[in-house]
Amino acid sequence: MLRNKKIILGVCGGIAVYKAIELLRLLSKAGADVHVIMTRAAQEFVTPLTFQTLSGNPVHTELFNLIAEREIGHISLADRADLCIIAPATANCIGKIAAGIADDMLTTTVMATKAPVLFAPAMNVNMYTNPIYQENEDKLRRFGCRFVAPVSGSLACGWEGKGKLAPPEAIFEAAVSALSPRDLIGRKIMITAGPTREEIDPVRFISNYSSGKMGYALARAAQLRGAEVLLISGPTALPKPDGVRVVNVTSAVEMQNEVMTRLDGCDVIIKAAAVADYRPKMRSSTKIKKKADSTTIELVKNPDILAELGAINTGIKRRPFLVGFAAETDALVENASKKLKEKNLDMIVANDVSQVDSGFNVDTNRALLFFRDGSSSDCGLMSKDQLAGTILDYIITHLP
Ligand code: PMT
Repeated sequence: MLRNKKIILGVCGGIAVYKAIELLRLLSKAGADVHVIMTRAAQEFVTPLTFQTLSGNPVHTELFNLIAEREIGHISLADRADLCIIAPATANCIGKIAAGIADDMLTTTVMATKAPVLFAPAMNVNMYTNPIYQENEDKLRRFGCRFVAPVSGSLACGWEGKGKLAPPEAIFEAAVSALSPRDLIGRKIMITAGPTREEIDPVRFISNYSSGKMGYALARAAQLRGAEVLLISGPTALPKPDGVRVVNVTSAVEMQNEVMTRLDGCDVIIKAAAVADYRPKMRSSTKIKKKADSTTIELVKNPDILAELGAINTGIKRRPFLVGFAAETDALVENASKKLKEKNLDMIVANDVSQVDSGFNVDTNRALLFFRDGSSSDCGLMSKDQLAGTILDYIITHLP
């Protein structure tokens, strides 16, 4: 979502400047073209060379730099930006911008830009709670600026309380959110993710290698685009995506119950979960002891949740747009097309899980998308975050 986006990173003076370096690293890793502006005070903590080396772009420190002025002009950065982040943002900088003061490169650029502006404040707790500061923040919020609130902890000034710069990851997430299209506002999307576990006894189960990464990437991307997201998740080690309602389940039958009782009002259902096709017929209530040289566990078929959803015609106001996944090691096109038809889906995402960089428990995926109308699209190799965005792009074009 940040690929090729021009981001201005304004850095004010404060001990938290070192966290801005980590933020720059996250933004650059995500493909953003970051241009750093440092205030004079920021340069007391870290030299511009650090930011210049990591961003690959010259760092701006002076409002009237003769060389930069000739080459780009001091306003052009503001014109070209997709987003302006100020982190750490001091009370002084926020106060000046709220008052319309533009007396250095950073405040001038923020005042001149039409891009969204995101402040990540860091300051002493008493400065943060001071009504003058709070009024300035409120004023900037009213004008559409975004804020990532500081967190509580022991502050560099010796005080305990709210004022520490938010973690770079949280600022990064807010940046992604600021640049995401809000084209799913008003849509309710249910997503299933992760594996199911079918218990054999209290200490053993049948499962698969699903990490939940694909389903969680979809949930996060849909939430960022404004959807109300319900994530029905099998057991994973992933953190709950911000702003997403998560319902945890263990077995396929539990997943079936949660999906079927919550589908009313859903515009879209995406089934990225790797549901176990079978479960042990009997679950032993005590640990099964090792006795014979070999043993047999009788399995019975689990409900096919996706097929059940595809068969729904009545009982809910309207049929949601139904997206299945197909994890295949062979005959990808034939198997996925068959599932699309037999399960009565609107779209299926076919993954080739025989490749090491695709499918289960990796950060990337290779997918072919097939649609009810017979059309298809080859997404090639991409990160699961990128694929999630692409899948949502296609879904949106098919929604009524
Ligand atoms: O979780 P990750 O590590 O990120 O890995 C991602 C993934 C490989 C799990 C994901 O991309 C994926 O392919 N998910 C579907 C895996 C799967 O179970 O495929 P399948 O071909 O067996 O099932 C087809 C579809 O029917 C799936 O949408 C599945 O959720 C659904 N199904 C299957 C069986 C069942 N009993 N009920 C179902 O609803």
